[in-house]
Amino acid sequence: MVIKSLLLSLIFFLAGLIPVFSQEKPGEKPGDIVAGSKKVETCLGCHGIDNYKTNFPELYRVPKIFGQNVGYLMASLKDYQSGQRKNPVMVATAKSLSDQDIKDIAAYFSSFTVEPQKSLKSIENKRAQDIIAKGNCMVCHGDDFSQNQDLSIPKLAGQYADYMFASLKSYKNNDNIYWGRGNAVMAGVVKDFNLNELRLVAHYISQKAGTLQTLQHSRFRSK
Ligand code: HEC
Ligand code: HEC
Repeated sequence: MVIKSLLLSLIFFLAGLIPVFSQEKPGEKPGDIVAGSKKVETCLGCHGIDNYKTNFPELYRVPKIFGQNVGYLMASLKDYQSGQRKNPVMVATAKSLSDQDIKDIAAYFSSFTVEPQKSLKSIENKRAQDIIAKGNCMVCHGDDFSQNQDLSIPKLAGQYADYMFASLKSYKNNDNIYWGRGNAVMAGVVKDFNLNELRLVAHYISQKAGTLQTLQHSRFRSK
């Protein structure tokens, strides 16, 4: 009995550790997947519908966020909160979230890990590969655009092409009050490429096998 309860407390202890993020300060609560699952109902109205489109500032699909890296989910939500990212819907959404909500929600969406899907079709494309080489994309985004050492860098493989094109353009545009992103790293990357090149590379990466998904419903799971 004693051993059993020791084991049980060990399991609970470890389960509590799973969602812990790297930069936890003492006294702060780590992100909690189950708590997160109860805070995402509104998100699913857009992020839970396959191919759901937004029409601002142009028509493109709402990004896949199930399976995205935890640190990146938190960083992007904080950037919408601070105005570093300027999409009006996401700014309003992020401003309604507390720091704890952001941690829980990021823990929830990042917990959906699946095997990479197959690449959609043959994706040999010399021009896209040249752009990737010139932009050193794989140094940060990983060889397969799906695994990063640094969880604050987004997974890209299998993300919607039109969304990635819009996001790449937005790193070029930070002077509009409703639209644009201020991230200095990606601003430095995209300035070397024209829009045709960015469209091409977004399309190419979207066809790679990845683990990002759009799921219809929150599948309440406890880990
Ligand atoms: C009305 C539709 C809508 C709702 C509701 C919504 N989003 Fe979004 N979300 C978007 C759009 C559109 C974008 C892309 C914005 C951009 O271009 O920067 C986005 C972007 C994001 C991103 C950045 C993804 C990336 O790859 O950079 C995250 C994270 C995110 N949303 C999380 C959430 C969360 C969490 C909720 C609920 C609390 C939510 N969203 C609710 C439409 C929505
Ligand atoms: C020095 C590291 C670095 C390099 C090189 C780099 N990226 Fe990024 N990339 C990042 C980081 C960090 C972010 C997150 C920025 C943010 O928070 O908005 C990002 C974001 C993105 C996004 C937005 C994803 C989303 O979900 O909104 C796309 C698309 C992207 N990068 C494509 C590329 C491509 C294509 C290249 C090469 C041409 C490239 N990146 C090179 C670090 C890098």
